[in-house]
Amino acid sequence: MTNSSSSDAVQDYLDAGLRSLWYPVIASWELGSNPLGITRLGENLVLWRDHQGVAHAVEDRCPHRGARLSKGWNLGDRLACWYHGVEVDGSGVVRDVPAMENNPIVGTACVRHYPVKEAHGAVFIYFATVDGEEPAELVLPEQLSDEASYGNFLCTATWKCNYQYAIDNVMDPMHGTYLHSDSHSMAEGDRQAEMVLEPTEAGFIFKKTGQSGVNFDWVEFGNSGTLWLRLSIPYQARFGPGGPFWIVGMAVPEDKDHTRVFFWRVRKVEGWQRQVWRFFYRTKLEGLHWDVLEQDRVILESMAPDARHHENLYQHDVGLSRLRRVMLKLAKKQLAERGEVA
Ligand code: FES
Ligand SMILES: [Fe+2]
Repeated sequence: MTNSSSSDAVQDYLDAGLRSLWYPVIASWELGSNPLGITRLGENLVLWRDHQGVAHAVEDRCPHRGARLSKGWNLGDRLACWYHGVEVDGSGVVRDVPAMENNPIVGTACVRHYPVKEAHGAVFIYFATVDGEEPAELVLPEQLSDEASYGNFLCTATWKCNYQYAIDNVMDPMHGTYLHSDSHSMAEGDRQAEMVLEPTEAGFIFKKTGQSGVNFDWVEFGNSGTLWLRLSIPYQARFGPGGPFWIVGMAVPEDKDHTRVFFWRVRKVEGWQRQVWRFFYRTKLEGLHWDVLEQDRVILESMAPDARHHENLYQHDVGLSRLRRVMLKLAKKQLAERGEVA
């Protein structure tokens, strides 16, 4: 392979989505009793809940002739294909071919299955680099995992752009001061800054040197079995109890041109404060936050064609450049594991 075709292959792989990671794929409330077909990392999956409410995920393809299993019936521990009734369980094994006795595919794993976990209002799925891979441990930031101390609201949306634009956007604290200048929490502070990187255990922090606790002044990237971004924005006391407002963000590629974003909006609130915060959020803040997200969506969906490959980056973009290098390195490693790049 020439250098340029190998770097094209790496970029192509990266555009589809890194693997050996857990990704949130839908909000828990989206999965009811009907099978649900979704596309993530360019793969078609069907999700359903069994009679205990446990979520399962397999490839959305009937092993008989390829009908979508998501069009079929939920029988609890298995799905039945609508076309000719073939039944497939959560490990991708054919459990019955009702139209014919002693069919040899019964008992055989014929479709791919995906490890599933449900946490903090989202369904997470593990996408392996190679078949048979043991899923990584899923470790979430304290603002989600410490449920006794923090309360969160999950907000999720689909944006028509590659997921790397969504990640770049959060790795770029300076956009808060401009794009979101009409927001109640991002109107303050300097419109210029010097930025620095600081390594952490799971990744790194990218922050303004001369300003903190005023606006969107820093962001942290971490890889702990899932790729996450975390930031905090100070809140004035009139916005209720709980101190700064935290955001934990994740982005999952649907396909190369669509991204599902997940933002957990978090505050450190216990006991009665949690009730106050929930009421306050629902009545006063949620609409404002959707307005801010809408600004992000509009700017990202309207970026110039192939924008990421025609840039003049400056010092404020050091954070996203670093993250791109981290992701490129992972992409190369995973392609090598798959035997696709020499
Ligand atoms: S295609 Fe599914 S049973 Fe035939
Ligand atoms: Fe933004």
